[in-house]
Amino acid sequence: MKILAIESSCDETAAAVVEDGRKVLSNVVASQVEEHKIYGGVVPEIASRRHAEAISGVVEKALSDASLTLDGIDAVAVTYAPGLIGALLVGVNYAKSLAYSKKLPLIPVHHLRSHIAANYITHSELRPPFFCLVVSGGNTAMVEVRDYTDFRIIGRTRDDAAGEALDKAARTMGIPYPGGLNMDRLAKDGDSSAYKFPTPKVENSPYDFSFSGLKTSVINILHNAEQKGVEINKADLGASFQKAVSDCLCKNTLKAMEEFGYTTLAVAGGVSANSVLREALTQMCKAKGFKLYLPELSLCGDNAVMVGSQGYYEYLSGNTAGPELNAYAGKAIDE
Ligand code: KG4
Repeated sequence: MKILAIESSCDETAAAVVEDGRKVLSNVVASQVEEHKIYGGVVPEIASRRHAEAISGVVEKALSDASLTLDGIDAVAVTYAPGLIGALLVGVNYAKSLAYSKKLPLIPVHHLRSHIAANYITHSELRPPFFCLVVSGGNTAMVEVRDYTDFRIIGRTRDDAAGEALDKAARTMGIPYPGGLNMDRLAKDGDSSAYKFPTPKVENSPYDFSFSGLKTSVINILHNAEQKGVEINKADLGASFQKAVSDCLCKNTLKAMEEFGYTTLAVAGGVSANSVLREALTQMCKAKGFKLYLPELSLCGDNAVMVGSQGYYEYLSGNTAGPELNAYAGKAIDE
């Protein structure tokens, strides 16, 4: 089954053709990063406009790269939640009109489910059940993937997502957007023990995360240094901050996996590209004898290949929609 998939939840306009959930026939991503850079973050209104301009060309290229026309497509999958509402609506409306005009099934795909599915493309042998740490710009959660379309949230962030905390800390440190990625690069040779961070704890919720305190610590470190006229070593501060974030993620993941009896871990979302986190999880899983699945770097960020993969399993579960499909800025993965 060949699925044309569309993604427009944030600042990438993407389309792909994926066969039977696992085989990539094409993968096109038009990034708006350069345009948002001058503002230090994604400007929702600009994102929506750029999606509207780019989407036809991106979809056409995805079809031509797969040597197909719409007549060779069996269904259209689209990210419908969560994300920037104006941005999501561009993809949803485009997918709806394609599906309606060609009488094709329309498959709504949850953004975080698709991030998890990026692992199905990278690792052909991976099948549920497994445990998943989802770490993206807008969400951080630990999820039991009981089956392809059956999820249970074990823990989540109570405030900032891990990516959001990295981006905001980077911005405070004067590291250009995209902050998480640039902090990772800058901190490669930094000393991760140079700056001390608190270990955040969420009262009575052993599996939940909180990253806003870490972010405030960065601000305090910078202010203190400024007042004392002390120079900050950005590589050291970035390395220390990334370690603090990574330690929280690893600690809760290990606790939950042991409590719930999982020995297979997958990681998903933009922050799964972070070199410190990848290394820490690799060491943790090695020490515990867990099997670890990390998405290939090119599929960590937003793309439509992952939408085509998850879309296939949603279709098999009967999750299709009609022209009344709407987009939602917020929606839990298990709704
Ligand atoms: O999953 P994603 O592409 O978008 C959402 O669905 O939210 O995640 C974007 C997030 C941003 O916060 C970005 O800074 C972060 O992923 N990110 C990274 C790295 N690459 C992207 N964070 C840390 N290290 C990286 N190498």
